[in-house]
Amino acid sequence: MAKLVLFSDTAQDIASAFPGAVRVETRNFPDGESYVRIPESCKGKDVLIIHRCYPGISENLVKLFLIVGAARSQSPSSLRAFVPYLPYARMDKAVKEGEAVSADVVCGMLKSLGCGELITVDCHFIKEGAGTFQRAGLKIRNLTASGALLSHIRKSSPSALPISPDQGAAYMAKGGEAIKKVRGDYGEMGGATYRKVAEMKVEFDAKGKDLVIIDDMVSTGSTMIKAVKVLREAGAKKISCAATHGLFLSGALEKLREAGAQEIAATDSIPSPVSKVRVADLLKEAKAI
Ligand code: R5P
Repeated sequence: MAKLVLFSDTAQDIASAFPGAVRVETRNFPDGESYVRIPESCKGKDVLIIHRCYPGISENLVKLFLIVGAARSQSPSSLRAFVPYLPYARMDKAVKEGEAVSADVVCGMLKSLGCGELITVDCHFIKEGAGTFQRAGLKIRNLTASGALLSHIRKSSPSALPISPDQGAAYMAKGGEAIKKVRGDYGEMGGATYRKVAEMKVEFDAKGKDLVIIDDMVSTGSTMIKAVKVLREAGAKKISCAATHGLFLSGALEKLREAGAQEIAATDSIPSPVSKVRVADLLKEAKAI
């Protein structure tokens, strides 16, 4: 079966690892609406769309919907999308009455538009690592960067013990320990809403140890920074930090260094100065193309 890899301008660097990938034309009308055109026929082909949704989450999510819709309308044999950092995955349940469960809405939209499989990396609402899952009827193949991130950190810290900053990311720190985290109420940072970290407890022996805190994402950094601080207080000798998705908002990278993180690594799902693991390599290893 003929294969066709499509990519948008947001994912040009990822697609460069796949020779022959075809660029999807995307632009904006003067009023801000998105325009999308696939310049090659998808008919009868196994199509994979490679697209980043961050930054510009909402606009790029609409572009993803339009690319999926345009591809589906040409009757491909199969249609998949690789979106390394899945937006709107954070709200995976309603905490307060009336809240939108955005993870369901986004997955349901992709399903209804005809996306046969979404491939993503350390999806926020999948706390089990690599595997195949379903959400709102959408088939999701979740890849994990935990092994590649740990290998990178262990080049300079061979005996680093993985620590997850909470139970949710414990799957990323297999063979290690988890900090006990208690989330607080919603707070404001930079005009945006986020849930504060109320308390973190180290209930294992960290004294004199070389540790690497590993999580699915660093957003405002409040979780990772607090984890560095409590591990230092618990007597850790060296602390590194690794996260699949490094958003590093509100100066989180500098704050992490100031808190005592000696090495910091992330993937290039969101390009940053500490992107050390390529999501294109994860996609290749998973033999998804
Ligand atoms: C929480 O469940 C996640 O795994 C991350 O720990 C969290 O989303 C990171 O956000 P922030 O950097 O704002 O603390």
